[in-house]
Amino acid sequence: MKVAVVGGTGNISTSIVRLLLDKGHEVTCVNRAMTAAPADDVETLVVDRRDQERFEAVVQSRSFDAAIDVIAFTPDDVRSSIRAFRDVRHVIHTSTVTVLGEQFDWMPVTEDHPVRPSVPYAANKAAAERVLLEEHYRSGFPVTIIRPSTTYGPRRALRQIGIDSTWVHRIRAGQPIIKVGDGSATHHLLHVDDAAAGFVGALGRERCVGQTYHLVHPHHTTWEEYHRALMRAVGREVDQVGVPADVLQSIDPQRFLFATSIFAHNMLFSAAKILRDVPEFSPRVTLDAGLAETVAYVDEHGLGRDADDLEDRIIDAQRSVAGAVVR
Ligand SMILES: NC(=O)c1ccc[n+]([C@@H]2O[C@H](COP(=O)([O-])OP(=O)(O)OC[C@H]3O[C@@H](n4cnc5c(N)ncnc54)[C@H](OP(=O)(O)O)[C@@H]3O)[C@@H](O)[C@H]2O)c1
Repeated sequence: MKVAVVGGTGNISTSIVRLLLDKGHEVTCVNRAMTAAPADDVETLVVDRRDQERFEAVVQSRSFDAAIDVIAFTPDDVRSSIRAFRDVRHVIHTSTVTVLGEQFDWMPVTEDHPVRPSVPYAANKAAAERVLLEEHYRSGFPVTIIRPSTTYGPRRALRQIGIDSTWVHRIRAGQPIIKVGDGSATHHLLHVDDAAAGFVGALGRERCVGQTYHLVHPHHTTWEEYHRALMRAVGREVDQVGVPADVLQSIDPQRFLFATSIFAHNMLFSAAKILRDVPEFSPRVTLDAGLAETVAYVDEHGLGRDADDLEDRIIDAQRSVAGAVVR
């Protein structure tokens, strides 16, 4: 198939493009060309999608069988995608499980659970989903909505208190790191290569049209376990110092937005629907293998050396609390 990928050079989308090429598809990326394409045989249409008129004209000047839109965040973005991809046989839209919020009526959370976004990013994604489904029911627009959970890969050393690479160096230097509360909140962490198998497996599959899927690892982990896996990759174990979510929020609500909302609560999503409909989705990358790759990438690219001293100050203050009370 001739496949357009809006994005194509980032975290999830690089793996999607590589897998599409492996499967013999012809791939065109649509992005601003800030980063080189993942392979030589990929064509790039250079355009900023926020310039909607140009974006739609550039896409419409070509003919595609299918499209994967990785970077539509708002109702406006998806209205533009609907116009740009009006002649395409299948469009996969990338949403997020965060549209479901953090207070659930049942677990594991299935796709029919009410959406209750708790942060602006998720509220926009939820509104974008509604626009697409309305268009599907109105005109038959052939969309599939994929909601990935948190994905990690070589370029992305996220942790419970945020998306940063500084903790790789902290661990190597033997410095403690922060976890939120006791670090036992559950989370689904999916490697980008496993995520790509879900996207590419759904592409062109009739039964997926008009459907919404949770793209999550069938097994959850806790943040504390996840942090320990990265420590194994670095080869050193350090203390994880628990700090309550509300304390982090009062220190810097923006910096700790996810740490004090989505990442502080138990997340448990059902992967049953995508496992049933997209057998190609069968996560294989272990945390140990995936995080070893992440650490190697962080080291090779010298990422995350620009840390401030906030984490040390919070840890010192947290450790002194008990001493201040018990004299
Ligand atoms: N990563 C996660 O944990 C996670 C979890 C759930 C859902 N999601 C969703 O998954 C999607 C992918 O996330 P990601 O972080 O992995 O993305 P990504 O693959 O890193 O996507 C970035 C890509 O988009 C292009 N791009 C960015 N801004 C653009 C613009 N204005 N116009 C055209 N191209 C643009 C970038 O190239 P240029 O910079 O060269 O333009 C790059 O190719 C997002 O929709 C996100 O909400 C992610």
